[in-house]
Amino acid sequence: MTVEPAQSTALIADESAVAADPASHRVLTGDRPTGPLHLGHYFGTLRNRVRLQSLGVDTYLVVADYQVITDRQSPGEIAANVSEVVLDNLAVGMDSERTTIFPHSQIRALNQLMLPFLSLVSVAELQRNPTVKEEAEAAGISSISGLLLTYPVHQAADILFCHGTLVPVGDDQLPHVEQTRLIARRFNDRYAGGRQVFTEPQALLSPAPRLLGVDGRKMSKSRNNAIEIRATEDVTARLIRRAVTDADRRITYDPDSRPGVSSLLMMAALVTERSPHEVADDIGSRGASALKAHVTEVVNEHLRPIRRRRAELAADPGIVPAVLHAGAEKATADAEQTLQHVHDALGMKY
Ligand code: TRP
Repeated sequence: MTVEPAQSTALIADESAVAADPASHRVLTGDRPTGPLHLGHYFGTLRNRVRLQSLGVDTYLVVADYQVITDRQSPGEIAANVSEVVLDNLAVGMDSERTTIFPHSQIRALNQLMLPFLSLVSVAELQRNPTVKEEAEAAGISSISGLLLTYPVHQAADILFCHGTLVPVGDDQLPHVEQTRLIARRFNDRYAGGRQVFTEPQALLSPAPRLLGVDGRKMSKSRNNAIEIRATEDVTARLIRRAVTDADRRITYDPDSRPGVSSLLMMAALVTERSPHEVADDIGSRGASALKAHVTEVVNEHLRPIRRRRAELAADPGIVPAVLHAGAEKATADAEQTLQHVHDALGMKY
């Protein structure tokens, strides 16, 4: 058995330490471009990353295009989906002047980090990753590809090429952040004589609880149960109208026994910055249809300026390519420097 040296930081970052010294951090976060982003992404991570950006933390946003082919047969409409994800991010307030936005496929030096990083993890560790297992199950995959098994190592390259210190994510991504920390630590120990070539990043968990889709299951594009940021007000209304609730006309917040009603209450609470109990008290005994009408109204109202901005951005087809090219140029410079340090540590200088 190998003994890992003591960890310098905890896996999960302390929010208050970030606010106290934003300049000492670098945020790296990412999205898998399988389609437009929805309210689950919005409350789970987008709002949080916009907040970090506005605190003045140097921010990187990877559009993880290679991850699309981890659990599906073909890349699908990849360029269109990348564009949707970039538009969603810009519409909610990510600013390409302050944040480096790039697709990881375009950063060759980042991808080359995969080779030395793969040498630092065992097959058994890769096979134990619970998120990879869940993804394989959800996609109905019985034979796991080499990329599905190893993409957490590729994700470590996303985080470490730019020396990200904070990774705002949902808890499903914690195994990947833990894997990244191990890779950083092992690289320093095994290849750099203990020198801190890489810093162990920390996860920053979103304060918002997970929302359910309108069918009562996890909100997900592939289940067709998600309210997309870009959806029209009519489509939003229709989706909320068909949300699964229950027959009790008295509306109460009780996520365990009333998951559907409680998720709707939480949605309204998040956009109005109230507690779900308060929202429930307002609706009282007027039943699920009154609750749905309220949720529709406040969600559409909250998203209206975001959707307006998104439509303006989408009207200029030059914006997304310009953002991605500028981001790729900056990310490439960082990745090349990091790869150089890796080659130096390994003695690969000829
Ligand atoms: N795996 C993440 C997801 O499915 C996307 C992602 C790719 C990511 N690279 C990342 C997230 C690096 C955080 C850091 O949403």
